[in-house]
Amino acid sequence: MSVLVDPTARYNALESYVYDRAIAPAVIELADSVEERLLAELPRGARVLEVGCGGGHLAVRLAGKRDDLTITGLDLSPEQVGRAKVRARAVAERVTFVEGSALSLPFDDEHFDAVISVASIKHWPDPLRGLSECVRVLRAGGALAVVEADRGCTMHDARSFVSRWRIPQLLRPLALVGFRTFVAGNAFDLDDMRAFAAMLGPGQWAVERVPGTPALLLSGRRKARA
Ligand SMILES: C[S@@+](CC[C@H](N)C(=O)[O-])C[C@H]1O[C@@H](n2cnc3c(N)ncnc32)[C@H](O)[C@@H]1O
Repeated sequence: MSVLVDPTARYNALESYVYDRAIAPAVIELADSVEERLLAELPRGARVLEVGCGGGHLAVRLAGKRDDLTITGLDLSPEQVGRAKVRARAVAERVTFVEGSALSLPFDDEHFDAVISVASIKHWPDPLRGLSECVRVLRAGGALAVVEADRGCTMHDARSFVSRWRIPQLLRPLALVGFRTFVAGNAFDLDDMRAFAAMLGPGQWAVERVPGTPALLLSGRRKARA
């Protein structure tokens, strides 16, 4: 079934191909400011997990900016994981990808220094359970950054985001309607994200709009040990 109809469905081969080529390059720009902040704060040799990594654009970009990081990408879609592995061939000793679900992360407790996720949480059948999994695998004091489309985004921010999709000009009005209806429309607003943050385990969590984009950021740190 199409992810447009049911956001919790698995991307089919065509959807994952179109997404990877046309939309993902614009989506990872949503994480630009988050990435800069995270990279500045991560200790040397940090272990980073990206949940819902898609075709691995962000993981490969992170690896290119910091050669001391070990990055693991996880995604539900075998096509996306396959694509990510190909994309990361040049950095394969530091960047690995696994198929799996955010709702049951196949990692030990407190394994990672940072967990990030971009544009994936709206697809998780139980977002709070997925977020709790992200926190479980974070070490005490580790950083979480979850970026997702904002259901309450402005038309201006939505249009500017869609203008960066790699699609023919003629399709943009349709893409804008699609984004507002099926992407942002199936995502969360500030109150939803704040409610998730309030239910996460001990830590300092905050939710904000990512300026100039139609996205929200839930971020913070798991409580450090006393
Ligand atoms: C909109 S794409 C975002 C991909 C990537 N983060 C990016 O920014 O280009 C959403 C991704 O989340 C993945 N996904 C959906 N449900 C998931 C789940 N329950 N666990 C892990 N990944 C999931 C999809 O397969 C897809 O690759």
